[in-house]
Amino acid sequence: MDHIWLIGMMGSGKSTVGRCLADRLGRPLYDIDAIIEDAVGSTVSELFERAGEAAFREQERRAIANVAGLPPGVVATGGGAVLDERNVDTMKSAGSIVLLAADVEVVAERIGGGNDRPLLAGGDGGALHSIANERDARYRAAADVVVDGNGSVETVVGLVEAACNAL
Ligand code: S3P
Repeated sequence: MDHIWLIGMMGSGKSTVGRCLADRLGRPLYDIDAIIEDAVGSTVSELFERAGEAAFREQERRAIANVAGLPPGVVATGGGAVLDERNVDTMKSAGSIVLLAADVEVVAERIGGGNDRPLLAGGDGGALHSIANERDARYRAAADVVVDGNGSVETVVGLVEAACNAL
């Protein structure tokens, strides 16, 4: 089996579900944001601030391309990974893409007031809604399978596992 690429909005549970799923399957977890942070030696927020979003997207593209060549694992992507079609092509050619589809209210609740997401910095919650609306079609077009991401971590992990077994 190839990689399982988890995509979806910020707060949809990609990293948490990814960690749990990887443990359950006995596979490595590749967390794209963490890989970028290691590569550049700063947080994603600092990278956005210092070099801008385009620089972050380039690091994201490189990280996804590198991970595609690693042994099969579970990959937690950043919420914007699907914005670049090259990333979608890379992911498709190296496994299955699973969308964690969570309602924007659920996602907002999970994110809370955290300040580690530069695209939401200083916003009033409206940004999250418009990003979710703008990206919805893209997420669904990229996905091989769509899973309900609104439940508990255990529930979502079970759904992803079942969906991948059925592919
Ligand atoms: C982003 C999501 C973040 C991170 C960056 C940009 C996005 O990852 O990659 O802040 O464009 O949606 P999470 O989805 O893990 O929050």
